[in-house]
Amino acid sequence: MSSPVSSAGAEGAGVPVLDLSDVVKDYASEAGAFRALHGVSFRVRQGEFLSIMGPSGSGKSTLMNIIGCLDTATEGTYRFDGTDITAFDEKALAKLRNDAIGFVFQQFNLLPRLSARANVALPLVYSGHALKERNARADELLALVGLTGKEMSRPAQLSGGQQQRVAVARALANRPRLLLADEPTGALDTKTGAEILAMFRSLNAEQGVTAVLVTHDPGVAAATNRVVRIQDGRITYDGPPTKQALAGAGHDYQAA
Ligand SMILES: Nc1ncnc2c1ncn2[C@@H]1O[C@H](COP(=O)(O)OP(=O)(O)OP(=O)(O)O)[C@@H](O)[C@H]1O
Ligand SMILES: [Mg+2]
Repeated sequence: MSSPVSSAGAEGAGVPVLDLSDVVKDYASEAGAFRALHGVSFRVRQGEFLSIMGPSGSGKSTLMNIIGCLDTATEGTYRFDGTDITAFDEKALAKLRNDAIGFVFQQFNLLPRLSARANVALPLVYSGHALKERNARADELLALVGLTGKEMSRPAQLSGGQQQRVAVARALANRPRLLLADEPTGALDTKTGAEILAMFRSLNAEQGVTAVLVTHDPGVAAATNRVVRIQDGRITYDGPPTKQALAGAGHDYQAA
């Protein structure tokens, strides 16, 4: 089948897909502003597969929300595919999200009344594709995630792992430049989680999908090629998934 992602040259070539520089995030609260990110900088190149790890409350979802253009930074700059999007307004961010970013959530977030096919095809409605094309593309994606034969099943008729496969297919519908997943295996049993993880690996290795996932699970992070650890809103490690890096929960490792 055709690639689920848009391509812009070989892995690592050209400008980074993501380039965050000194990103600060403050949340307003009654006690004053709470700084959830203290100047985070990192880049992700096309074809990378990386995990973000860190204790609860360390800022992982905050960072993912900024990366995914669901929220904006208080300070710092964010370049996406070489374009400075720091000052994009909500409308421009919404367009970028729909065109360029695929999201996978812990709880799948499928629409219960729609078939697997219709769930996968939904982002294509917003991007203006005709019905026949949407359905063909949805079936192609369902085949890619191993769900041929389940096109007409509703989420409740599918297992957790199958629902997450539908969610991944939906995330790939618009051939995103970037696939983001916040705890994609968090709601699944170990075996099913491993299957979903293997699917991410093969999408990365075979289709060149650039993927960033958040996980608490060292076993999940070990399957990625790069680990970014964050603690109290700061990056404390950025490098390969070594045993030491994976076991580092609660410890402070120097950035590589
Ligand atoms: N909307 C908000 N308003 C105020 N504070 C917030 C808000 N969202 C998050 N925070 C705070 O920012 C910090 C980082 O939260 P975040 O959700 O990014 O953590 P996390 O690393 O994703 O944690 P978990 O592993 O539990 O999902 C926490 O101290 C949290 O209480
Ligand atoms: Mg979180």
